[in-house]
Amino acid sequence: MSEKFFEVRNLYVNYGAIKALEDISLSATEGEIISLIGANGAGKSTLLKTICGFIKPLKGKINFKGINLLRLSTDLIVKHGITMVPEGRRIFPNLTVKENLDIGGYSLKNKKIFSELYDFVLKLFPRLKERIKQFAGTLSGGEQQMLAIGRALMSNPKLLLLDEPSMGLSPKITNEIFELIKNINNDKKITIILVEQNAKLALKYSNKAFVMETGKIVLSGESEQIENDPQIIKAYLGG
Ligand SMILES: Nc1ncnc2c1ncn2[C@@H]1O[C@H](COP(=O)(O)OP(=O)(O)OP(=O)(O)O)[C@@H](O)[C@H]1O
Ligand SMILES: [Mg+2]
Repeated sequence: MSEKFFEVRNLYVNYGAIKALEDISLSATEGEIISLIGANGAGKSTLLKTICGFIKPLKGKINFKGINLLRLSTDLIVKHGITMVPEGRRIFPNLTVKENLDIGGYSLKNKKIFSELYDFVLKLFPRLKERIKQFAGTLSGGEQQMLAIGRALMSNPKLLLLDEPSMGLSPKITNEIFELIKNINNDKKITIILVEQNAKLALKYSNKAFVMETGKIVLSGESEQIENDPQIIKAYLGG
């Protein structure tokens, strides 16, 4: 395998007899945002979970900075710099905002890096700072998404996987979240893989895009090009 920053090659995942991913290949260059677009059940979340080590593939390769991720547990994958914000956020509702952020940074041994990340997250999300002692379960949907992203950032990722950050949020809050995602990418040069059903939004905010249908990648390219592809406009952009 070449020394790409991040690369998935010829990946197959089955759930029992069900083929969830078939021959998936994609790659990301350091510092870019790539988006994964596709309808319900296309396999987007399965792909992110496989990258994080929650699901073991049937065959294929996943490499990150030359390291074979398929040999590593999820814990070690996080330590190597890959963190996922799961679909539906999964924050800890009975813990405070502060406690949720602390858990995100639990694997960091370096106190200085921990406190720098903590400051970065609270600066990025002033709303979380205002609510630092509030129980996470009482936050609004948008604030919970901010907390889920903030918690992931506390592990100091180099590659951040976001699974449908816009889910259940109003257009206004969604735009706010996507602008923040862009800031994270700009400020920290964190590479991002963004799963999003809202194709328009995903294409607007990403450099490259991969379109998935029933476990396969059916189209990929520069986001700007895909935005103008007549088939995509018809199928995903309501044109
Ligand atoms: N644990 C599981 N056991 C069996 N089948 C599963 C499991 N998880 C997912 N699947 C199936 O795998 C396929 C891909 O699911 P996945 O959650 O990856 O899709 P998705 O693209 O993220 O969809 P959505 O946009 O609805 O979140 C679906 O057909 C789903 O039913
Ligand atoms: Mg999903």
